[in-house]
Amino acid sequence: MANVTMDKIVSLCKRRGFIFQSSEIYGGLNGAYDYGPMGVQLKNNIRDMWWKEMTQLHDGIVGLDASILMHPRVWEASGHVSNFTDPMVDCKQCKSRFRADQIDLEAPCPVCGTRGSFTTPRNFNLMFATHIGADVDAASTIYLRPETAQGIYVDFKNVVSSSRVKIPFGIAQVGKSFRNEITTKNFIFRSCEFEQMEMQFFCKPGTDEKWFPYWREQRMKFYVDKLGIVADHLRWHQHGPDELAFYAKDAYDIQFLFPMGWQELEGVHSRTDYDLTQHQKFSGKDQTYLDPETNERYIPYVVETSAGLTRNVLMVMSDAYEEQELEGGDVRTVLHFHPAIAPVTVAVLPLVKKDGLAEFASKLEHELREDFATDYDQSGAIGRRYRRQDEIGTPYCVTVDYDTLQDNTVTLRFRDSMEQERVKISDLVERIKKATKEYKRV
Ligand code: GAP
Repeated sequence: MANVTMDKIVSLCKRRGFIFQSSEIYGGLNGAYDYGPMGVQLKNNIRDMWWKEMTQLHDGIVGLDASILMHPRVWEASGHVSNFTDPMVDCKQCKSRFRADQIDLEAPCPVCGTRGSFTTPRNFNLMFATHIGADVDAASTIYLRPETAQGIYVDFKNVVSSSRVKIPFGIAQVGKSFRNEITTKNFIFRSCEFEQMEMQFFCKPGTDEKWFPYWREQRMKFYVDKLGIVADHLRWHQHGPDELAFYAKDAYDIQFLFPMGWQELEGVHSRTDYDLTQHQKFSGKDQTYLDPETNERYIPYVVETSAGLTRNVLMVMSDAYEEQELEGGDVRTVLHFHPAIAPVTVAVLPLVKKDGLAEFASKLEHELREDFATDYDQSGAIGRRYRRQDEIGTPYCVTVDYDTLQDNTVTLRFRDSMEQERVKISDLVERIKKATKEYKRV
């Protein structure tokens, strides 16, 4: 982590096609980003790993894909219309805008240095409003969802009546959320359009005492064991009385050591029956659960795990980034992605283009596509091609040389150690799968 700065991450993301500023040719749009060829693959891989972890590897968790546009009463019931606000101030001198809770109002403006220039703080609702239908009036106002969780709550009864789920069970969802954030600095950390991976775990009141620590443990394990994040870069933060929502029983955030310091990555919150009770009240529709065995009827308690997918991408990039000084003073920039989430798993490189090596390598790359995300590169010196793959975090490079044509073996190069191994082509797929399974960050 020592040599990672946000500027370096931003620059690599642009140079290697991970992340671009939205609408860049028009001067850019604050708080919105485009994921390039490498970035979208990395993001999809993290999403797929989370989805598999939740819906496949845990018992009783089903998926959902609710719509972004919902009935406006949803956001009245959830409290977002009245409470989802940030205090905002403007500098009267330079017109810069800040969150009042993030700066010292007694101090000079951090942008222009003027003292005593701030407006009085006023509350600003973070939801983006738009209109549905032809009329633009209060009655047609709807919101872009500021979280995916409410889609899960309002479909709770639909899922219970249409699937064979029994409490305890969870509903998982990944999707876009939108917040009109006042300050969007720190790249994709806090953006206006972002993606969340949320899971609401419905359980019998009282058993939340058991499920809350269970999910906390599971979520931390996911980051270390599955995403390969360095354990020292993660920690817990328990909400104090001033942070805890009035209905919440307890709440912890998983924080990650981002280049700008420790910040929230995911919340694991014990939310009681608050959301379902609110929806019962506002919709007038019964939200209780009838236990088929005991005939008890109750509104379930919820343990929520709520992670930012795009914030996960920033974590993975920051955690993986390293500049290594090599012998001779050369610097190698390398992304130590866990092989299971790297955008490219295997790059196939002919040592030279001539004498049939390029054709052989290209054919091999096509064959490997069945098992891995591959890349083929024949341009430039082999050392430079290795560096290019290091910079996008490709864990394995396969080099085809003259010996390959004689004995059907290739050189397998490992990104982190730069060690090379001679492998029979017939063993290559299994060798790479084994290395991925046994991968440990050094
Ligand atoms: N349903 C609960 C909920 O939405 P949250 O703490 O507001 O809780 C959960 O958001 C996660 O979503 C955060 O931990 C963060 O990873 C991500 N997130 C929230 N706002 C974000 C933003 N403006 N940009 C990127 N990610 C954001």
